Amino acid sequence: GKLLLLNGPNLNRLGKREPDIYGSETLEDIKEKIIATIEPYQYQVDAKQSNHEGQLIDWIHEADKCYQGIIFNPGAYTHTSIAIRDAISSVDVPVIEVHISNVHKRESFRHTSMLASVCEGQIVGLGSKGYQLAAMYFIK
Ligand code: DQA
Repeated sequence: GKLLLLNGPNLNRLGKREPDIYGSETLEDIKEKIIATIEPYQYQVDAKQSNHEGQLIDWIHEADKCYQGIIFNPGAYTHTSIAIRDAISSVDVPVIEVHISNVHKRESFRHTSMLASVCEGQIVGLGSKGYQLAAMYFIK
């Protein structure tokens, strides 16, 4: 099987970005941990990150029929993007929305997700481990 690890805006800065909120691991570290988690089950992961809404939308479209699932941290687009919501709705591949921080403990503008109701599920506030938990969910 094959999974897509998709990260949105500013997540390329993980490790240096507000480490008190997001931890010290980089996206590369997170990818390596997912590989170690899913390798025993003969699963692979492709990792993509973009700061651009349209690029994320194109990748979601392209992921349809190619992956068993998308592990998606949409960053701040979570709270704003009807276009990304519609992209998720337009494909059959299941998506899990992941947030490193507990968005519900933070500013009220982070409390709503435009995407959650079109995703298979949501993992919030469990740090970078949330990505691994999402990956395990997709292992059949
Ligand atoms: C985030 C939470 C979002 O509110 C924020 O804009 C991010 C990261 C998280 O992983 O906790 O960029 O998705």
